[in-house]
Amino acid sequence: MDITETLAIPIPEQLDSPAVPDQADLDLTTVGDFTVPDPRMKIRDVNVFYGQKQAIFDVNLDIGSNSVVAMIGPSGCGKTTLLRCLNRMNDTIDGCRVEGRVEMDDKNVYDRKMDPVLLRARVGMVFQKPNPFPKSIFDNVAYGPRIHGLVRDRTDLEEIVHTSLERAGLLDEVKDRMDQPGTGLSGGQQQRLCIARAIAVSPEVILMDEPCSALDPIATARIEELIGELRKNFSIVIVTHSMQQAARVSQRTAYFHLGYLVEVGSTKDIFTTPKHQLTEEYITGRFG
Ligand SMILES: Nc1ncnc2c1ncn2[C@@H]1O[C@H](COP(=O)(O)OP(=O)(O)O)[C@@H](O)[C@H]1O
Ligand SMILES: [Mg+2]
Repeated sequence: MDITETLAIPIPEQLDSPAVPDQADLDLTTVGDFTVPDPRMKIRDVNVFYGQKQAIFDVNLDIGSNSVVAMIGPSGCGKTTLLRCLNRMNDTIDGCRVEGRVEMDDKNVYDRKMDPVLLRARVGMVFQKPNPFPKSIFDNVAYGPRIHGLVRDRTDLEEIVHTSLERAGLLDEVKDRMDQPGTGLSGGQQQRLCIARAIAVSPEVILMDEPCSALDPIATARIEELIGELRKNFSIVIVTHSMQQAARVSQRTAYFHLGYLVEVGSTKDIFTTPKHQLTEEYITGRFG
C-alpha cells in the first residue's frame, strides 16, 4: 500500500511537479510597462552571454528615481547578471559579454568613453555577504572619498565619514571605535558599514544583491528600514529571494524567469494581481 494513504498525508503538489514549469508553449514577452516617468537608468535590449551560453534575453527596464525596484525570480534566472550590467561589474568576469544599452543621463554606460571606476561610484553596490575591507571602520568609509579625491582635508573627510555612517544608521554604534577593524563588527553592522561605504561617494543608484541573506531577522529588519530611508535620496535596485522582503521594501517589482523579464509592475499589483502565469505560480509558491 502507498504509505501516504496509510498516513493520510497528502503529498504537496509541488513535490511532484518539476522545479520550473514546462515553458515550451509560454510566451516570455514582458508583461507590464517597463518604463517609468522619471527614470534614473534605462536598460534597453540587453542580452548577456557567458561564453556561448545566454543568461539574459532582450531585457528592457527603467530604474526609477528615488524609489526601490525589486528583482525577483527563481535561482539562476539572471537577477545578479542583470544587476551587474548596471555598473559594469560583468566587465570583471571572464567570458561575459553584454549586448544592448544601459543608459544613464542618455549616455550608454557601455560607451568606450565611460570610465567604469567613475561609473561604479555613481552606481554603488552592496553584496550578499558583507565585505568590509580589512581596514578600520573609519578607513572603510573614507576609502571611496579618498580615491576619488572628493575631500580637501581631514575635516572634510571626517564630515563625510560621519554623515555616511549616520545615514547608514550605524554612527551611534561605532562612533567610539572608529579606529577598530570593520571586520570586527556583527554581520548586520558590517552590512550597514558596506552601505555607508557605498553612500560615502554620493552615488545616484545603489545596487543590492540579496543584502540580507546572510543576516538574522533583526539585522534584516534594520536594513529594510534603512532602505526605506535611503530611497528618499537614492534609486535602489534590490535582488531578493524573499517575496516578503520585496513586498515590504519596493514600490516596483520585476519578475524574471530563465533570463527573461516576464512581468514588471507596481509591487502591489505583482503580488495581488499578477498577470503572467509564471509570476502567479512563483508568488503562490508553486516553484522556485
Ligand atoms: N560567472 C559565470 N560564468 C558562467 N555562467 C554564469 C556565471 N554567473 C552566472 N552564470 C549563469 O548565468 C545564469 C544566471 O545566473 P545569475 O545571474 O547568478 O542568476 P540569479 O542571480 O538569478 O540566481 C545561470 O544559468 C548561471 O549559471
Ligand atoms: Mg544571484
